[in-house]
Amino acid sequence: MKIPDIIIAIDGYSSTGKSTFAKKIARKFGFLYLDSGALYRGVTLFAQEERLISRLGTVNPELKHALAGLSLSFGEDGRLYMGPRCIELQIRTMEVSAQVSPIAAVPYVRAWVDERLHDFGRQGRIVMDGRDIGTSVFPQAELKIFMTASEQVRAQRRYDELKAKGEEPLLEEVVQNLRERDYIDSHRETSPLRRADDAFELDNSDMSFEEELAWVQGLIQGKFGIL
Ligand code: DC
Repeated sequence: MKIPDIIIAIDGYSSTGKSTFAKKIARKFGFLYLDSGALYRGVTLFAQEERLISRLGTVNPELKHALAGLSLSFGEDGRLYMGPRCIELQIRTMEVSAQVSPIAAVPYVRAWVDERLHDFGRQGRIVMDGRDIGTSVFPQAELKIFMTASEQVRAQRRYDELKAKGEEPLLEEVVQNLRERDYIDSHRETSPLRRADDAFELDNSDMSFEEELAWVQGLIQGKFGIL
């Protein structure tokens, strides 16, 4: 199926499987996949390493100036780099997850990330996932999907992911982190997480990847009249 040079925006709560879904769509249609959350995680790791965020999540205003010296980029393999250093593993730890939402609520951090996301968007044929892609970063995106799944399913997915990476998470802590992030992400002042009015909702609690893919293919066929 050949689809036009569109932007596909995928938003939703934490651990709803957005990135796995987005990667599958990208592979299937030959689009570029971009993970906007990785940039917020990269900024969080940077703030931690520069000691610009306290244990309790208070952000030092110096971060604003320090960002001028931060270079984050995606390698050919889709992994995130800070300058020449691959930071893909570090940005997925519980330590970073625990502080990313307060960092992502800071307006100048969002402006810094948005600037980079808009650069990527110039080329079209991209799938980007995040929290505000369809509402704020690319409100003109031709296809918007809003993903949800039950809390239990999401927590189990996140737990399995961390386990697979060699961490020893407590399920309770994972649930707590999901709740906290969802709360902060949907209640912050600047571009909070919400479903765009023209987004199609996908609850994938009980769906296989094949079913998800069939769902989106049906959507694209209907919307763009392609067979
Ligand atoms: O998708 P993720 O869990 O890797 O995202 C990490 C955090 O980044 C998430 O808790 C909220 C923030 N985020 C955001 O505020 N806006 C986006 N477009 C993407 C992520």
